[in-house]
Amino acid sequence: MSLNLLDVALNPQLLTKELRVQNNKKIILRPLEVKDVKLLSTFLKNLSPKTRKFYTCKSYDYSYAKELCNAINRYDKLRLVVTLKTTKQIISLLEFSFDITNEDYKRFLKYGINLTKNDCRFGPCISDDYQSKGIGSAIFPYIIDVAHKFGRKRIILWGGVLINNKKAIRFYEKKGFKNLGTYENLENGTSLDMIFNI
Ligand SMILES: CC(C)(COP(=O)(O)OP(=O)(O)OC[C@H]1O[C@@H](n2cnc3c(N)ncnc32)[C@H](O)[C@@H]1OP(=O)(O)O)[C@@H](O)C(=O)NCCC(=O)NCCS
Repeated sequence: MSLNLLDVALNPQLLTKELRVQNNKKIILRPLEVKDVKLLSTFLKNLSPKTRKFYTCKSYDYSYAKELCNAINRYDKLRLVVTLKTTKQIISLLEFSFDITNEDYKRFLKYGINLTKNDCRFGPCISDDYQSKGIGSAIFPYIIDVAHKFGRKRIILWGGVLINNKKAIRFYEKKGFKNLGTYENLENGTSLDMIFNI
């Protein structure tokens, strides 16, 4: 049986994992919880203008952090965070959407791909100080495992990845995502659609 959002809200331990990264630092990958508002708002507030360009949110403040924490188990989204074990600081927000929009369906048909209920959208953001330090690579297998536990067979990038976000494109390619094609994302510019087969 696949997991659902209620299972995770009732028992966050189901998706909680302790990992060791560079310099033996311990990090925890776990679902976002209602009590995380302050930690999440600090994470969002500290994102640099460059990272905000690549990871767009409607705002980066306390009210948005509160909105995300209040949205747990309300819609189709699963949000995970990565924290430092010692200080509890949030260093990454990872978002899944288990609902594929009509726009996604239409866009992917142009690539010859028929999205189904077995697909999901994914968007990661690691805080500036922790990018390019192997955190994304360390958590990637567990991200795939989460999608798998939710019964998903493919992952697409949420809104694609901006074509000038070379670091992220390199990251996704290295992890096995396939390039599909580009589209004009009205808010931000040209985006590349990519897909991962689990
Ligand atoms: C994209 C992102 C998730 C990658 O995670 P990360 O922890 O920084 O990546 P890692 O350190 O694990 O690096 C994995 C690979 O990514 C690529 N990469 C990482 N940093 C890079 C850099 N500064 N320049 C070029 N490639 C880079 C490399 O291919 C690297 O592999 P290597 O270490 O074998 O060379 C993270 O940088 C991030 O959140 N960036 C800001 C927000 C964003 O762009 N989100 C994606 C929206 S679509």
